[in-house]
Amino acid sequence: SGQLVVAVDGPSGSGKSTISRRVAQALDARYLDTGAMYRAVTWAVLRDNVDLADAEKIHAVAASAALGIGTDPAEPHISVDGVGVDREIRGTEVTQAVSAVSAVPAVRALLVALQRDIIAEAGRIVVEGRDIGTVVAPGADLKVYLTASADERARRRSTENATNQAATAADLARRDRLDSTRAADPLRQADDAVVLDTTALGIDEVVERLQRMLDKVT
Ligand code: C5P
Repeated sequence: SGQLVVAVDGPSGSGKSTISRRVAQALDARYLDTGAMYRAVTWAVLRDNVDLADAEKIHAVAASAALGIGTDPAEPHISVDGVGVDREIRGTEVTQAVSAVSAVPAVRALLVALQRDIIAEAGRIVVEGRDIGTVVAPGADLKVYLTASADERARRRSTENATNQAATAADLARRDRLDSTRAADPLRQADDAVVLDTTALGIDEVVERLQRMLDKVT
């Protein structure tokens, strides 16, 4: 069949990754985690000891890093300059620095162009991030904006990372604020996105609802 692009946006802990991967598997489609791309660039920035206030140097690192972006929803492996970084990009250091890196407009321009290439090549793909429905793929066949209460998002993240829930809540609040208030492509709901609050919904239920929405657009 032809092109099918599903855009899934929302804050951290809203269930984006789990849901997006499950929907991609059900559709036999590819999966693109754009947050992992910003995390991979951040890993390279930290590797090179670049000052997080130096936008020009951050951009230079992003421009010269060879990103390997896996799009298999079962195993979306990420590498930078040939080094596998699946575990490293989820660590505290990267998580604390990623909002500064993703706020650099030139980095966004670079990654958005790469994301569009990956989407065009994949044909059928579920793409998750913060600006997919608004900037990366405004013509997506289905746009979903996932939310959940701040408490529930912190609970999910601290279970995933085995960290303290209060510290996780503070970190999520900090990243949400930075991500929604930055000048370049902030986290924002597309006007034509379907908003789904996942606070009280199980994963299966969310996946089923998205599948029903997809049945209508395909
Ligand atoms: O989704 P995840 O939490 O892995 O994203 C990590 C960070 O990458 C976000 O906090 C945000 O700063 C940035 N990001 C972004 N635009 C996207 C995806 C992620 O700015 N499309």
